[in-house]
Amino acid sequence: FPRECLAGKRVVITAGPTREALDPVRYITNHSSGKMGFALARAAVEAGASTTIIAGPVALETPEHVQRVDVTSARDMATASNELAAEADIFIACAAVADYRPAEAQTSKIKKTGESITLALTRNPDIVASVAQRENAPFTVGFAAETDNVVAYARGKLERKGLALIVANDVSNSQIGFNSNENAATLVWADGQRELAQANKNTIARQIIDQIAGMLPTNSPK
Ligand code: C5P
Repeated sequence: FPRECLAGKRVVITAGPTREALDPVRYITNHSSGKMGFALARAAVEAGASTTIIAGPVALETPEHVQRVDVTSARDMATASNELAAEADIFIACAAVADYRPAEAQTSKIKKTGESITLALTRNPDIVASVAQRENAPFTVGFAAETDNVVAYARGKLERKGLALIVANDVSNSQIGFNSNENAATLVWADGQRELAQANKNTIARQIIDQIAGMLPTNSPK
């Protein structure tokens, strides 16, 4: 892992879950500890990058030399991401964003009345796709958690969202991912792929940063 391989680069990373309010006391969310995103932030700092993490609600300490912006909902994360991506060389979307939010967040607590209630949900913006599709987009990296046909689905996502690189995880393997300190992944890009064997998230993060550094266009300062 070459030190200083991202010297002078600005890296922005989303991490953790988002939280979508139903009412003042309830929300919907995804499983996500934020550990992978925070490990990526540490690896980016080690590689010499100026690093910002946009964090959903997670119980993690901010790594040294990392700037942190805390957000709650997907829409908050989208706003922060669009702002910070304008100044970034590399954008890594590691967050487990809620795909839908309650159509209307109630201002008072929803009361228990009938035996069942129905929730109307609205699609959230796709943060990484909108960053990848901006003019002068940073080198944009996504994650894909899949249970089957992992690489094929990841490749589809790479193309659909317009990403430079995607990190595909097999989430049917309970040894890794989510709350675990370990992960394994396949890196997938337009004309190649690379397997990362099961290892702790810091090791996986360094390998991802190393892959990104090797793919960056040289001498095209932004
Ligand atoms: O489409 P899917 O949710 O499987 O894609 C996962 C990738 O897209 C991750 O990199 C995740 O951070 C990103 N994503 C996003 N905004 C969304 C949904 C997913 O940035 N609303």
